[in-house]
Amino acid sequence: MAAALLLLVVLAAAALAGTEASAFAAASNNATAPPTPVVVVEGKLNVHLVPHSHDDVGWLKTVDQYYVGSNTTIQGACVMNTLDSVVDALARDPARKFVVVEQAFFQRWWAEKSPTIQAIVHKLVDSGQLEFINGGWCMHDEAAVHYIDMIDQTTLGHRMIKKQFNKTPRAGWQIDPFGHSAVQAYLLGAELGFESVHFARIDYQDRAKRKADKGLEVIWRGSRTFGSSSQIFTNAFPVHYSPPDGFDFEVLDDIIPVQDDMSLFDYNVEERVNDFVAAAIAQVNVTRTNHIMWTMGDDFNYQYAESWFRNMDTLIKHVNKDGRVHALYSTPSIYTDAKHASNESWPVKYDDYFPYADSTNAYWTGYFTSRPTFKRYVRVYSGYYLAARQIEFLVGRSSLGLFTSSLEDAMGIAQHHDAVSGTAKQHTTDDYSKRLALGASKVENGVSTALTCLTSSNRTCVSSTTKFEQCPLLNISYCPSTEKASSATKSLVVVVYNPLGWERSDFIRVPVNDENLAVKNSDGTIVESQLVEVDNVTSNLRKFYVKAYLGITSDKAPKYWLVFQASVPPMGWNSYYISKSTGAAHNGRGYASAVVSPSNDTIEVGPGPLKMSFSSASGQLKRMFNSVSGVDLPIQQSFLWYRSSEGDSMDSQASGAYIFRPDGNTPTIVSSSVSLKVIRGPLVDEVHQQFSSWVYQITRLYKNKEHAEVEYTIGPIPVDDDIGKEVITRMTANMVTNSTFYTDSNGRDFLKRAMLAPSRHPLE
Ligand SMILES: *[C@@H]1O[C@H](CO)[C@@H](O)[C@H](O)[C@H]1NC(C)=O
Ligand SMILES: *[C@@H]1O[C@H](CO)[C@@H](O)[C@H](O)[C@H]1NC(C)=O
Ligand SMILES: *[C@@H]1O[C@H](CO)[C@@H](O)[C@H](O)[C@H]1NC(C)=O
Ligand SMILES: *[C@@H]1O[C@H](CO)[C@@H](O)[C@H](O)[C@H]1NC(C)=O
Ligand SMILES: *[C@@H]1O[C@H](CO)[C@@H](O)[C@H](O)[C@H]1NC(C)=O
Ligand SMILES: *[C@@H]1O[C@H](CO)[C@@H](O)[C@H](O)[C@H]1NC(C)=O
Ligand SMILES: *[C@@H]1O[C@H](CO)[C@@H](O)[C@H](O)[C@H]1NC(C)=O
Ligand SMILES: *[C@@H]1O[C@H](CO)[C@@H](O)[C@H](O)[C@H]1NC(C)=O
Ligand SMILES: *[C@@H]1O[C@H](CO)[C@@H](O)[C@H](O)[C@H]1NC(C)=O
Repeated sequence: MAAALLLLVVLAAAALAGTEASAFAAASNNATAPPTPVVVVEGKLNVHLVPHSHDDVGWLKTVDQYYVGSNTTIQGACVMNTLDSVVDALARDPARKFVVVEQAFFQRWWAEKSPTIQAIVHKLVDSGQLEFINGGWCMHDEAAVHYIDMIDQTTLGHRMIKKQFNKTPRAGWQIDPFGHSAVQAYLLGAELGFESVHFARIDYQDRAKRKADKGLEVIWRGSRTFGSSSQIFTNAFPVHYSPPDGFDFEVLDDIIPVQDDMSLFDYNVEERVNDFVAAAIAQVNVTRTNHIMWTMGDDFNYQYAESWFRNMDTLIKHVNKDGRVHALYSTPSIYTDAKHASNESWPVKYDDYFPYADSTNAYWTGYFTSRPTFKRYVRVYSGYYLAARQIEFLVGRSSLGLFTSSLEDAMGIAQHHDAVSGTAKQHTTDDYSKRLALGASKVENGVSTALTCLTSSNRTCVSSTTKFEQCPLLNISYCPSTEKASSATKSLVVVVYNPLGWERSDFIRVPVNDENLAVKNSDGTIVESQLVEVDNVTSNLRKFYVKAYLGITSDKAPKYWLVFQASVPPMGWNSYYISKSTGAAHNGRGYASAVVSPSNDTIEVGPGPLKMSFSSASGQLKRMFNSVSGVDLPIQQSFLWYRSSEGDSMDSQASGAYIFRPDGNTPTIVSSSVSLKVIRGPLVDEVHQQFSSWVYQITRLYKNKEHAEVEYTIGPIPVDDDIGKEVITRMTANMVTNSTFYTDSNGRDFLKRAMLAPSRHPLE
């Protein structure tokens, strides 16, 4: 008997809406938990000193290099030093406090510690000296990250804290991400159980205005649906997450120690106390209530924690003796309790804090698209990880164990605000990809075994006849098990899994070589299918990448894509059988596509309700028409590039991974005349456009779908001329929009945006 090859295709899980929020909230904190006792002095200005270290989970160095402190020529950072040193310093004096944030680091450290050290840490946590805040695996990005990944990476960290310390973090601490999303406010804030969220990066103009009207601290209602039932106290810092000038005490920095030993020279207590009081009074000027927060720390600080604590101990002592203001060790939770107790009213903030600019020419919008292939990689595995966990649950943990845990660390780390954002160095980005690839390959093995159990009639997980294979390189048309499927020999079963909570009917494409194949569903009925020839651009890309990824040089690209429509129940699967086609398949069930050569001014495509027409002379899109809604829209699409600014005499800010700064000239059109190839069939029409040697696009219009699928391949971007190019695509239509448009918030909500300047509609 021939072995059946089974192929798993996981439908993407990128959809808006769902009910994850409530399930997540139930598993998390109770916002009305009893507050930590507060040691503030009423009637005085209270300066809350919050000792912290901001530890990036990979950036200039990899996460492991930061942890162990290697590669110090790149950055003198070692998180092990920080954690060892902070615990010693806290144990020395019960008045001292410290907040621990990134669990990717803390958990590495905790696992290595002796029971004696662990017992000390337990005491520090129970007494409130060491408080976990934020508490996710990393401090996730808020622009490029998907809300499911935000939930997962936060859950991972919180679960460990709960297990080890029976604590749930009370405060959000997103001090460094480059702008802040509405989903962070309500879903990863209020719904999660946080009472407050704190951060540094908001637009410089917004900050100036908020300082002037004491509006840096607000009640943020990020959801239009939940409104005041899902609001959070939000604290945007007046400057950055470092201390006020002169109060940095990191051991190797140029610090001004507080010197209160009169028998030594350079005694400076009065001067330092005066500086402290002056800095506090300047800040209270921009803050409501008589409580202000000083963030006492910076990137990878407290490597010798005693330097900070010794100076802060001395300052607290002398400032409180002086009596003009009151200084105390604090945490964001204590600070928030004090703010609440003061009965102040706060401005209400809706929407979000995007985009973020820190000066005139420094809009942090470059990172929305930096390292797009890494962004895709993270997104693909996000959907896959979700599906794998469902399959793991369906098969039952007792049979195979928790095989998906091998992706949780890699996925958690990938959400960091220098990871999925695309702002880490190349070697760090390679390290993120490697972690994902290693984790994913283990999960793929688990999924294959689980599917063997789930699909076998006797529910056993070992089978001599069934072998599942998955094709992570379908994007380059590489899938050996479908490519070798032929009408003469093996039968191929494609199992399609849908991780979403509703039924779907989507198109599946697998590479094949045999043209005599038919697709059947489980009751033997033939399912309509179509063969689309693999184009030369795809086969050339495949050739290059199969060599690069797998080292195979003798590779031959498959001839066709076999396309069919799969219907899959919610959180379930469906099987499709691919085998030798029968007469019926030839008689009008399985079709090869026809390539249409332009013989008319205008070519109209689309087997379904949505049609698009293209000019056969210029190859350009001209019009879209939806026969269901009746929308008929003249529209153009072009690829263009802005020249990157290298900085100029007025402002040295260059364009880069973080910041998008064009040089001020109008963008250059890549090509106004485009080569065009049209492929038609019963299920899908495809339009292949070669805009230039480095811009290729395929537009697909499906039977019974009201959207077009646009897949573009860009690169390598030519830089021989030494000109940086910021490539964009532009759709031009004469719609009346009144300058409003919508953007998504972490793939979950839509936010209405209004442009201040009137928009131009350049379509003539
Ligand atoms: C939260 O705490 C309040 C007061 O202690 C209690 O009434 C409520 O049931 C708790 N909610 C949850 C979800 O635990
Ligand atoms: C240090 O970083 C560089 C990248 O700048 C990398 O090539 C090198 O392998 C790293 N060294 C170690 C010991 O990891
Ligand atoms: C506080 O604000 C007032 C009024 O705007 C201003 O006159 C004063 O100089 C400010 N004080 C400090 C210390 O910034
Ligand atoms: C805030 O209001 C409560 C209840 O009205 C009152 O007991 C408390 O003293 C007030 N606190 C301050 C700082 O005014
Ligand atoms: C269960 O069925 C598979 C084929 O699906 C077979 O290979 C295996 O031997 C069977 N196991 C038992 C215990 O019957
Ligand atoms: C194809 O997908 C793999 C795995 O998802 C990814 O690493 C790779 O960059 C992709 N290749 C191209 C050419 O897009
Ligand atoms: C694609 O490649 C084949 C074989 O190399 C060649 O014959 C054909 O002309 C190419 N088609 C295009 C559109 O370049
Ligand atoms: C050209 O296209 C138009 C509109 O689709 C159609 O009415 C006309 O018959 C076509 N002419 C030729 C020669 O195909
Ligand atoms: C634009 O604004 C005008 C005037 O306020 C209004 O009549 C029109 O309906 C608006 N159009 C859209 C598309 O919102």
